[in-house]
Amino acid sequence: MCNRFENEVFKKTGIGFHKSADELGEVLSKGDMKNSLAALGNTMTYCVSCHAQFKQ
Ligand code: HEC
Repeated sequence: MCNRFENEVFKKTGIGFHKSADELGEVLSKGDMKNSLAALGNTMTYCVSCHAQFKQ
């Protein structure tokens, strides 16, 4: 679903999302519960904000 829209804001949100997801993967691999939940929350914020703007 990532490259379907030619839109600057959409792209920026998408890139920020992917970066946060990369960080999430790294934190998860270290097995620290508190940091894992924080990173997960950060990534989920992108899901919600992008859907609020672009999902019909
Ligand atoms: C950069 C924007 C963006 C991000 C970030 C994003 N989404 Fe989406 N998502 C969309 C758009 C746009 C659609 C609608 C696509 C369509 O209708 O063809 C969608 C559709 C979906 C759907 C289909 C459900 C439905 O009602 O049709 C699911 C499930 C979903 N996203 C989950 C997620 C989850 C989970 C995350 C975070 C891990 C996420 N998305 C992050 C833009 C995004």
